[in-house]
Amino acid sequence: MTGNWSIYIITLTAIMIVGSFLLLFGNRTRPADSEAKTGHVYDGIEEYDNPLPAWWLYLFVITLLFAIAYLVAYPGLGNFPGLLGWSQTGQWQAEVDVAKARYEPVFAKYRDMPVEQLAKEPEALRMGQRIFANNCSQCHGSDAGGARGFPNLRDSDWLWGGSADAIHTTITNGRQGGMPPWGQMLGEDGVNNAAHYALSLSGALPAGTESAAGEATFKTICSSCHGADGKGNTLLGAPNLTDGIWLYGSELETVKHGIRNGRMGQMPAFGATLDSDRIHLLTAYVLSLSAAR
Ligand code: HEC
Ligand code: HEC
Repeated sequence: MTGNWSIYIITLTAIMIVGSFLLLFGNRTRPADSEAKTGHVYDGIEEYDNPLPAWWLYLFVITLLFAIAYLVAYPGLGNFPGLLGWSQTGQWQAEVDVAKARYEPVFAKYRDMPVEQLAKEPEALRMGQRIFANNCSQCHGSDAGGARGFPNLRDSDWLWGGSADAIHTTITNGRQGGMPPWGQMLGEDGVNNAAHYALSLSGALPAGTESAAGEATFKTICSSCHGADGKGNTLLGAPNLTDGIWLYGSELETVKHGIRNGRMGQMPAFGATLDSDRIHLLTAYVLSLSAAR
């Protein structure tokens, strides 16, 4: 807050408090004139002007004194930090420090353990599961089973690789799947043929459906990422098209849509949000999900 704003707020607050005192005591009816009337008359009924009950009056006074004490002790008066030196960030930091001190020994125990070994420690996996529930389940599902566009992490089919190193890199740096759109270049027939050929690779077409027309296109364009045999490439995040596992679905229209318009699945990077201990535990947890199969 700039200096002027600070002075403005301090002045306003002071006026309000002093004003409240003046209002309270300036207009007070004294017990002595307790027979006084307000002068309002209705149907011959007059209104007494009695003093406020003492407990009511002192309650007001106490709130005002409390306000003053509070503003002296805590931040509230413009830029004045308060005599106690309390701050929200300070309190937050203190709580973080306590939590760090408490969990540090637990993390230290697992820090130097290789991921493959960690993936067999039930307690570490329970921690990994909780971190997963907080950070990953909204996209991958609470059981990591995935959803359309969000890969299943429980199977052994990997876009970017299922080794401990690959999973660690995925979580730390994120991943950007990049399948360019082919609609312009291939035209609608070309897209249709390529889709049929892509589906045929996993036997996903009804028996007898013509699919060879897309083969030439696949061999010249698609194979550069998906491989000549369609088995994919984990360096590019290009899915294996032969295994019957579909990130976006195996319906003909869905596959055509992907080929026509491209696909851009994005896994966010967590290197800046989660510390290395947590990413270590998460890596082990994700590894354990498919290693268990
Ligand atoms: C905002 C949604 C979102 C969140 C949150 C998210 N992911 Fe992902 N994740 C994705 C998407 C989308 C992909 C697929 C990227 C692609 O299409 O190449 C992915 C891919 C992955 C992969 C690679 C899978 C493979 O087959 O190679 C792993 C491993 C993974 N995520 C783990 C995690 C973990 C662990 C967390 C929590 C720290 C997490 N993800 C949080 C969306 C998300
Ligand atoms: C530049 C590399 C590249 C080329 C060339 C490419 N793809 Fe892809 N393709 C990808 C990537 C990467 C993905 C995953 C996109 C994502 O993660 O969002 C993908 C996804 C797909 C999918 C969805 C798979 C699923 O599991 O849902 C299909 C189908 C597909 N491609 C077919 C093709 C066809 C057919 C061609 C040729 C016309 C082609 N691709 C050319 C990189 C490529």
